[in-house]
Amino acid sequence: MSVVDDIRDKLDIVEVISGHVPLRKAGRNFKARCPFHTEKTPSFTVSPERQTWRCFGACATGGDIFNFVMRKDNVEFGEALRRLADTAGVEVSTRPKEQVDRDEALFRVNQEAARYFNEMLKSPEGRAALKYLNDRGIDEKAIEEFQLGYSPRGRDRLRTHLATLDANLGHAAEAGLLRSDDEGNVRDFFFGRLMVPILDRRGRVAGFGGRSLDGSNPKYINTAATPIFDKQATLYALDKAASAIREHETAVIVEGYMDVIAAHQNERKNVVASMGTALTERQVYLVRSLAKTVVLALDADAAGQEATLRSLEASWRAMERRRFGQREEVALRIAVLPEGSDPDDIIRESVEAWDEIVKSAVPYMDFVIPAMARRHDLSTPQGKGRAAEALMPIIVSMGNAFEQDRYFGQLADSLGVTREQLQASIGKLRPATRERRPASAQSNAPPSSTTVSPLASGEREPLEEFVLAALLHWPELIEVVGDHTPDEFNRTENRELFTLLLATGTIDELQRRLDESLLDHFTRLTESDIKPTTRQSAPKAVEHALTRLQQRYLRDRQAEIVESLELEPGAQLPQEVKDSITSVNSKLKESYLVGVREKPHR
Ligand code: GTP
Ligand code: MN
Repeated sequence: MSVVDDIRDKLDIVEVISGHVPLRKAGRNFKARCPFHTEKTPSFTVSPERQTWRCFGACATGGDIFNFVMRKDNVEFGEALRRLADTAGVEVSTRPKEQVDRDEALFRVNQEAARYFNEMLKSPEGRAALKYLNDRGIDEKAIEEFQLGYSPRGRDRLRTHLATLDANLGHAAEAGLLRSDDEGNVRDFFFGRLMVPILDRRGRVAGFGGRSLDGSNPKYINTAATPIFDKQATLYALDKAASAIREHETAVIVEGYMDVIAAHQNERKNVVASMGTALTERQVYLVRSLAKTVVLALDADAAGQEATLRSLEASWRAMERRRFGQREEVALRIAVLPEGSDPDDIIRESVEAWDEIVKSAVPYMDFVIPAMARRHDLSTPQGKGRAAEALMPIIVSMGNAFEQDRYFGQLADSLGVTREQLQASIGKLRPATRERRPASAQSNAPPSSTTVSPLASGEREPLEEFVLAALLHWPELIEVVGDHTPDEFNRTENRELFTLLLATGTIDELQRRLDESLLDHFTRLTESDIKPTTRQSAPKAVEHALTRLQQRYLRDRQAEIVESLELEPGAQLPQEVKDSITSVNSKLKESYLVGVREKPHR
């Protein structure tokens, strides 16, 4: 979680703003006279559900706690962040330069270790390891592609090697390559093992898996968590699989390193591995922007499935993505492997059989509904309740009404309840958005998930990132921005970057003014490949994206206005608000016309 998200989670906007402006409750919202311009009738609104503020009057602007403090205290983003962090009791850990440098050093020492292990594999000492690989059918090309290696026996070989290079052994220890034994001697962490470097998304060596070669246990040891390695947030071989995943719009997730290597060697390059853990939400995040379909290859073994299913239940939300402002679901499919064989065995025997298994993967729900019976005791009402609780939110959120209906029936059948009974249980699950909250509702009641805007929930905004990635890559595109404003960006970090871009116009200048807390986000965007594919297509693509952002912004404004009218029926609308409605409506109409006019050319 970023600091920004952390602060946003800990602070309530109503509390923050009421420290500056006396707020009065009005329906679901709070109102005040706008602190940023002089007015008689209050047109400044704070929404506790959205965690946003807006002036419907002359300012016609709004945002979150961050830009509120920026405006109110007249400070830059970084300063506002620090003030709010103070209030929230959040430590602002901007990544100081030393830390960035340290990480680079860790990657470098890992890279050298990978090179050394690879060299050792080809040396006389590595003969047995090499033979092991060959016996498993792993050819020389795959060995090079995956930078496989061998960590020699003896417990100080790598350390000695690094020492002769004058490498910083402190860094090697921090990267998890060395560790102190009980007597305080610094020893190699890996020795006598087949070495599998684990690369991050950008192809840097973040950690290692080491396989025992003599049947000893544990079969694998992996680099422990380090500043640059977090197994839970890594998919093995994603760097090599990304372009194939994008091309096939499908990612296949298996469990093991060797499974991935076998697949790639057989030209099935859209395969990555979760490295033995139950798939985590963060791993899902890594593939969902690349793939429309994610196929998870699951062991036939029920115990192994249990952990995976539990983790999927927690992370299914991650399967939804927003792309170009539209909600899209990533289809998760499950392929159950034949008992007792893993992808590696299957692929080596017949790659066609493997293709068939992947092809016949079933939609997650078709798998999980029958699996329910194994996981909960469906003969008791409690068991049925738990099963319904686990699956109904997923069904309710489905975009496709036919599918929804089908799974609804299927779930009712398998629980042995009627549709009506199941239906009755939805009332309890449905988000509270459509219900009027009693006027006495506390402002700090937890916002229900569906009413929270992306601004408050800290989720990724791909369309915004698309625009920013393009502008960071081709700063001259700033000329297509025209009269689009930072307000159209929902996510705090994106809005701040866009503001800075408009203010500075050059990347150098932007970097100079960039607050450290945004450095990670900035770096991610500059390295992102979600920007337009060619320079030539970029101006149109950015223009379209901006138009869509603007439409979303204007629709949200409309919705807010409608909402405030509903909640205060008969309230006298200040002239300013009336003007703002007229202006939003006409701008929205205009922006749709732009879309219509342009269609024939596309
Ligand atoms: P092979 O036995 O060489 O085919 O390995 P594999 O890569 O196919 O592994 P397997 O299917 O047995 O396990 C899947 C993954 O779980 C491995 O790739 C490792 O990432 C992880 N794993 C397996 N065994 C261990 C272990 O003993 N310790 C740890 N930490 N991870 C393991
Ligand atoms: Mn295996």
